[in-house]
Amino acid sequence: MAKRRRLIVANWKMHGRLTSGVTLARDIVEKAEANKPLEFDMVLCPPATLIWSIGEAIAGSPILLGAQDCHTATHGAYTGDLSAAMFTDLGCRYVIVGHSERRSQHGESSELVAKKVEAAQLAGLTPIVCVGETAEQLQSGSTGEIIRQQVIASLPENLKKGQLVIAYEPIWAIGTGQQPAPRDIAAVHKIIRGALGAAGEIVPVIYGGSVAPLNALALFQEHEIDGALVGSASLNSDGFWAIAEASR
Ligand code: 13P
Repeated sequence: MAKRRRLIVANWKMHGRLTSGVTLARDIVEKAEANKPLEFDMVLCPPATLIWSIGEAIAGSPILLGAQDCHTATHGAYTGDLSAAMFTDLGCRYVIVGHSERRSQHGESSELVAKKVEAAQLAGLTPIVCVGETAEQLQSGSTGEIIRQQVIASLPENLKKGQLVIAYEPIWAIGTGQQPAPRDIAAVHKIIRGALGAAGEIVPVIYGGSVAPLNALALFQEHEIDGALVGSASLNSDGFWAIAEASR
């Protein structure tokens, strides 16, 4: 498969207060301005409380904005929830859905994730749909089948194929410093493309799980890996930028 422009996404999770978040975003913008035009796309997904301020900090720069989750409905009596359209209002272009932390800590099923994908696309956002196997599933040799099933079940029937990213995030690799070998990641990405059918040709498939400056170069040797979804290493501007540079 031909090498595409890569997508480097920061998932800040529940990190960042007003001052630290804006400082981090400004540091990243400074690097982006010094390296224009960028040879990759970069998205910051801060906590919802910071989206407005981060949006102001990155305004006019090539850095894009995303959210970490959204509700399935456009509006309504859903105390504490936020809709995809609300994120569009704030200038978001992307939204992460079906992260394993949402699936495990909030009981989100693939069927619910599919509804979120639909809601995100309707609001004009590109959903970044996360899939990944547990350590037990890896050990039992069922990774391929689990991932295939998750991809199919996490997408709605009326999917807009040109407005989608899949993130392969093995659950055992998140925040552990462990990772599959790059060639094993590439093999799973091929399975994901297979599950997507014709859309597999155009949908970016990115990898997440302990991506760090030290392992990024080896990851990006694999042309199947269209980018990275970065957790803890995205909280440091130098480290995050080094990962992005390794993707060129
Ligand atoms: P870490 O990069 O901290 O392992 O987190 C990965 C992740 O969950 C990104 O969504």
